[in-house]
Amino acid sequence: MSWSRESWREYKILQQPTYPDATELKSVETKLKGLPPLVFAGEARNLKAELAKVCEGKAFLLQGGDCAESFANFNANNIRDMFKVLLQMAIVLTFAGGCPVVKLGRVAGQFAKPRSSDFEEVGGVKLPSYRGDIINGFEFSASARVPDPKRMIEAYYQSASTMNLLRAFSRGGLADLHQVHKWNLGFVKKPEISEKYAKLADELTKTLSFMEACGITSQNTPTLNQTAVYTSHEALLLPYEEAMTRQDSLTNDWYDCSAHMLWIGERTRGVNDAHVHFLSGVKNALGVKIGPTATAEDVIALANRLNPANETGRLNVIIRMGAEKIEKILPKILRELKREGLNILYSIDPMHGNTVKTSNNYKTREFDKIMSEVRSFFEIHRAEGTHAGGVHLEMTGQDVTECTGGASKITEQNLKQRYETQCDPRLNADQALELAFLMADLLKKA
Ligand code: PEP
Ligand code: CO
Repeated sequence: MSWSRESWREYKILQQPTYPDATELKSVETKLKGLPPLVFAGEARNLKAELAKVCEGKAFLLQGGDCAESFANFNANNIRDMFKVLLQMAIVLTFAGGCPVVKLGRVAGQFAKPRSSDFEEVGGVKLPSYRGDIINGFEFSASARVPDPKRMIEAYYQSASTMNLLRAFSRGGLADLHQVHKWNLGFVKKPEISEKYAKLADELTKTLSFMEACGITSQNTPTLNQTAVYTSHEALLLPYEEAMTRQDSLTNDWYDCSAHMLWIGERTRGVNDAHVHFLSGVKNALGVKIGPTATAEDVIALANRLNPANETGRLNVIIRMGAEKIEKILPKILRELKREGLNILYSIDPMHGNTVKTSNNYKTREFDKIMSEVRSFFEIHRAEGTHAGGVHLEMTGQDVTECTGGASKITEQNLKQRYETQCDPRLNADQALELAFLMADLLKKA
């Protein structure tokens, strides 16, 4: 099968907008093709090498961020707070698991959204669904919902600016281990959180002082005050991804330079369809979401198509089956994939299989269900002798009320207080950190 950056156009494709003005679309694509890449191919290779370690059980993958980034909520504080939570969680997991954590944001490009329905109906008015700020507007009006290609340019510049700040935070001192640990101490002082976590934080304090006494400080050891944060998003809007795909001058390979890692969603993973075809031709690390209807044969076919060389670190299968279904479905898949000898990094997305509508019409997720799917994921891997490689979360650094439960006991009635997402409900900063503390135990056992 021959591949070029535009050959996906010959394949069946789902979840794409229909732009009213084809000439305008063409001119946006031409402009994007001339703009600088957002990531460098060498960085994408570094991530792949780190993911290979995850695959071998020597590291853990922490992937998280907004369901959908938005133009309206774009500001430095939101990016900083997301970065902070990701780092806080990584420290907790690193210390407990005794293994490095690969930090991968759903950020700097996570704009396009697949939808279950093409239309949305409110009070008898039916309009095309919102598909993410890179495609159309969130506002419920006929004009906002018309797909506008110029939004791709805005998404590009927002991604570039976000990326720039993340790179600055990673190197400029905000990522200092001692700092991040101090923030965690602030968290565990909360009375609702049990002693177990206070103990973990205490041990970490002692370890850091011991290291300091041995002369290992942030000043003389760069790994203590710098980090690497990689970016990822769902490669859904293929005209944008095609325009950001470039040939690496060092290797002549093609890389999708819109992010370090790209994934294919549950709704667009047809093995003979455009999304799988497009990503099969780029060398980035790839993810594919696997929901409760998938069979082992489906996953094997996807692995063969997306990773024919069986390269370790190339393919991340992201399980999102739901707390109730995972135990029935996942063991058989793991067993058959193991039998095929396929090198796969498995991670768990405990968000998308656990979405419910409340009686007052909010889309939410229960903290306990999220935790339960994560726990099952770890237990199933232990039983099958495979690695629970990572976690994929929708979360924010803000104090939103979108998922119920957790130590702060958010109820259905509280949801309306700060329900700010433009798409799916996210864990707030406290819930995300609480989940990290709970996962730390599972990681230690694993
Ligand atoms: C998402 O990650 O926001 C998403 C839509 O996931 P999925 O494809 O698993 O439904
Ligand atoms: Co989502």
